Amino acid sequence: MLTMKKMIAEAIVERLSAALSVEDVERMLEYPPDAKMGDLALPCFKLSKILRNAPVKIAASIAEGFSVPCVDRAEAVNGYLNIFLSPEYLAKAVLPEVLEKGDAYGAPDLGKGKTVVLDYSSPNVAKPFHIGHLGTTVIGHSLKKLHEFAGYKCVGINYLGDWGTQFGKLITAYRLWGNRESIEAGGIDALVDLYVRINNAISGNEAEGIPANPALADEARAEFLKMEQGDEENLAIWRWFVDLSLAEYKKTYDQLGIEFDSYKGESFYTDKMPAEVQKLRDAGLLKIDDGASIVDLEEYGMPPCLILKRDGSTLYPTRDIAAAVYRKNTYDFDKAIYVTSAGQSLHFAQWFKVVELMGYDFADKLVHVPYGTVSINGAKLATRTGNVILLRDLFSLAIEKVAAIMEEKNPNLADKEKIAEAVGVGAIVFYYLSNNRIRDINFVMEDALSFDGNTGPYVQYTYARTCSVLSKAEFDASAPLSLSTPEEIELLKTLSCFEETVREAIDTYEPSVITRYILDVAGAFNRFYHNCTILGAEDSAVKNTRLALTAAAKTVLGNAFSLICLAKTEKI
Ligand code: ARG
Repeated sequence: MLTMKKMIAEAIVERLSAALSVEDVERMLEYPPDAKMGDLALPCFKLSKILRNAPVKIAASIAEGFSVPCVDRAEAVNGYLNIFLSPEYLAKAVLPEVLEKGDAYGAPDLGKGKTVVLDYSSPNVAKPFHIGHLGTTVIGHSLKKLHEFAGYKCVGINYLGDWGTQFGKLITAYRLWGNRESIEAGGIDALVDLYVRINNAISGNEAEGIPANPALADEARAEFLKMEQGDEENLAIWRWFVDLSLAEYKKTYDQLGIEFDSYKGESFYTDKMPAEVQKLRDAGLLKIDDGASIVDLEEYGMPPCLILKRDGSTLYPTRDIAAAVYRKNTYDFDKAIYVTSAGQSLHFAQWFKVVELMGYDFADKLVHVPYGTVSINGAKLATRTGNVILLRDLFSLAIEKVAAIMEEKNPNLADKEKIAEAVGVGAIVFYYLSNNRIRDINFVMEDALSFDGNTGPYVQYTYARTCSVLSKAEFDASAPLSLSTPEEIELLKTLSCFEETVREAIDTYEPSVITRYILDVAGAFNRFYHNCTILGAEDSAVKNTRLALTAAAKTVLGNAFSLICLAKTEKI
């Protein structure tokens, strides 16, 4: 559609002989809500000021004799120019283009020579990977895929929360109550147990009759201080905890098909912070407030950004500033994207401002992409206790339920387990990404898993349907293609919108644009499938075109699936 839109915009500009760019007109073109009003429409009131003419007259003057290869006809109605695309052009130009470009169809040419760094997922080590991490993980990875598709060089960074006083607590707890075997066997769960236990011991738990023991907190702090000073024994335990946690996270990443280019976590930046703190001090930006060092941001309507605690230790923003400088020096990014819950929006706004005040020229290349909260069937998820819904449990449950549905629907399917995994995980991902990211989501499992609704299983099933049709017959892409029914035309028009959909998703950092588009394609394909005989078509040219259309739908669905971590399921 993008090239068609461009052709149309060029022709309009040519007719207007006004100081308007093709891009201006492209932006003005709308998709009418009703097909009777055309495939595209130009609301001419938007031009009346520039052209000093009435919209009705402008529309009429463009419509008269309007001729572009991709346009069937243009009508002037009530100050609108309604444009109807040419089915011949769709069949002869768009369809072959989809088939020819294949995996690359729909890729906008935006990022050549540019680098994007994406910071996402980034769990806090030794804490469980819970449903709250779903957002940063799948939105972050989708944004990476979208940028890669558009030609950017992408660096996916998992900025592990692998440093901080919690490790002092864990080491203390481990020495008190743990042993190597039980931790090896229990993995991250055993670490979580230790963490919960020591927190309970420090603050006491009346219900369980545990008295508070603040001395343990001092002990924990001392252990962490030892780590900071390079104590090898503590560092070895810490490294082991990090590895154990990573091994667990990687299981979830594997299920999602996610890989990171870097796992440099918070610990990596410990020795990179003093230089930034010094720079802040030299620039006169640091203020001492109650013993702590802060950057005052009152002028910008924000609370101060905390740089050093009273005891001189660094904080979350300090580390983010040092990490951003390191990443700029290492990757020379054109854009650095951070995906976190909206709860961290202030944190990012604050340190982005500090980076700007420090005079770093990359300050305007930092982008925070926030997302809303997740609850399950109405229940908000706790995060600070051991009582959370783990992502792996959510996935297992979905996989189990899908396996049961498949057992009923298609018991003889080969490779059942793998497919159930792809569909179960896909269902969660698709459901999650169907919403605008900033919206708070209430997860209803039955809705996510339904094969009939606007769900992952439904679109994956549609993809499998295209594969099944194509496995039964061959087609000749070089034979003349022509469309004969409204369903064929509608499907191809929908496919032609892929590239601009990808652009929109990138511009707005919004993977839900892609999920919605996938539903449009699946809907258009299924209407075509139900109303147009494909394999049994009597006319061989019609059959050939319909097979080509099926292949084009498969290509676009597959390309779009890759953008949102959805597995391409050839059979379900
Ligand atoms: N580890 C943090 C958390 O779980 C998220 C890190 C986000 N990235 C960043 N550069 N601050 O809350």
